[in-house]
Amino acid sequence: MRPRVHVAARVPAPVQAALERDFALEPEPVDLDGLVAIPSVRVDAAALDRAGPRLRIVASYAVGLDNVDLDAARERGIVVTNTPDVLTRATAEHTLALLLALRRRVAEGDRLLRRRRPWRLEPTFMLGRGLAGSTLGIVGAGRIGREVARLAEALGMRIVAAGRGDPLDAVLDADAVTLHCPLTVETRHLLDAGALARMGPDAVLVNTSRGAVVHEEALVDALRARTIAGAALDVFEDEPRVHPGLLELENVVLTPHLGSATQETREAMGMLCVEALRAVLLEDRPPPNAVA
Ligand code: DGY
Repeated sequence: MRPRVHVAARVPAPVQAALERDFALEPEPVDLDGLVAIPSVRVDAAALDRAGPRLRIVASYAVGLDNVDLDAARERGIVVTNTPDVLTRATAEHTLALLLALRRRVAEGDRLLRRRRPWRLEPTFMLGRGLAGSTLGIVGAGRIGREVARLAEALGMRIVAAGRGDPLDAVLDADAVTLHCPLTVETRHLLDAGALARMGPDAVLVNTSRGAVVHEEALVDALRARTIAGAALDVFEDEPRVHPGLLELENVVLTPHLGSATQETREAMGMLCVEALRAVLLEDRPPPNAVA
């Protein structure tokens, strides 16, 4: 009998075909050997128990694992895997896309034209800020943070980075601050009212990590009061809900959690999940991307 696997979301066709080849795909997350999770699906002790005593692997279709209770999985002897490396470039590119969109007022200009507002090219019309020569403060010195640094340097930015446990002061003094740390007990609301107040009135914040790294209410207050110049956000505290205050502000660029959303990246992430399921359920060996 083929191992029973539940997949919590629609996946790209090649990934679906690979899953169907080797596994019996179950519509409900019960009586399973394997589970494919996504960030919006909570995999806590109750979900693991619901999946049943045969569950051997949770393959998370993401690099961030804040939705998975790793201790509960360990206690039950369940392997947890994620999808590192394959999404590094896509997420870094999206970070730069957001930063450019914000600094060069791309989304704002698009909105202006769609509203059919009158406009005229003038030397003072809709001026933004270039990136070259400005400083980028990077919170999180992992794979994605380092790739963002590489791309930003190519655009002429100077980099200041803070890794785990490093003080944030120098990073918060930068012209733009970008977040690339995982969401943990330590990083929840890392960018709170106090940290936002440390940023300058011309500085902007970019977040492609997890929404709850930022205190969203405090961010809305800072943006409204213009104590910071703007924010570009791909992630939100209570996804898919977006704070209504953010939707009203022109100095904000928003995307719906698209950091890793390229065709090739999502296929590569899916194939990592398939490989992990195969390793555990068909070949009885630990997958290389196991985190628990
Ligand atoms: C991740 O991998 O953690 C992203 O947020 C979803 O692709």
